[in-house]
Amino acid sequence: MAGNREEAPDYGRGVVIMDDWPGYDLSLFTYPQHYYGDLEYVLIPHGIIVDRIERLAKDIMKDIGYCNIMVLCVLKGGYKFCADLVEHLKNISRNSDRCVSMKVDFIRLKSYRNDQSMDEMQIIGGDDLSTLAGKNVLIVEDVVGTGRTMKALLSSIEKYKPNKIKVASLLVKRTPRSDGFRPDYAGFEIPNLFVVGYALDYNEYFRDLNHICVINEHGKEKYRV
Ligand code: IMP
Ligand code: MG
Repeated sequence: MAGNREEAPDYGRGVVIMDDWPGYDLSLFTYPQHYYGDLEYVLIPHGIIVDRIERLAKDIMKDIGYCNIMVLCVLKGGYKFCADLVEHLKNISRNSDRCVSMKVDFIRLKSYRNDQSMDEMQIIGGDDLSTLAGKNVLIVEDVVGTGRTMKALLSSIEKYKPNKIKVASLLVKRTPRSDGFRPDYAGFEIPNLFVVGYALDYNEYFRDLNHICVINEHGKEKYRV
């Protein structure tokens, strides 16, 4: 699972899961019965996800834990990551001399794609974004694929002149379609696979699965819309 020992590890990539990583057999873990037969394997068990988030919280606190943070959770996929991250940030904040005050807000994104390129992004919900002016914003996202969503969101938010914007993404995909965007904090770098669980969905299904798993062809067919 780890990278090549000859090279200096790049911890900015997070935990690197290689393309030949076979995952864990589903029979070794528990998961909802209604998803029996729909999954290929467990890519990241729930416990490892939470342990990794604990470390991300420590890294975030080290960087920006001396000021007030506005946490912006990108729904729906980011809700589990955001909840666990905020919990760890609160724990660190309570048990250290760092004094961080956190506000949390939730947004949803609606994108318009035109010839594969995202021209415009609509931000739905959340408080009036003009309140972000001068604030230290931490965007919490589930997965960066091509990076287009994040780039579009960042350029929308930059208009409101926050003091600082940092991006935490639980997952980053290694995809040839990447536009090169890299979050400031990455939980795991994963192969170019469609994954579900831990709030990530396939047509709204699988958000109620604890582990991050790879969906199989049967699952894709069953929940296709
Ligand atoms: P991007 O614009 O290609 O970076 O896509 C990012 C968005 O697509 C994420 O915020 C997710 O909502 C969604 N997405 C990309 N890959 C997956 C996946 O494997 N499972 C579930 N949602 C995904
Ligand atoms: Mg997302």
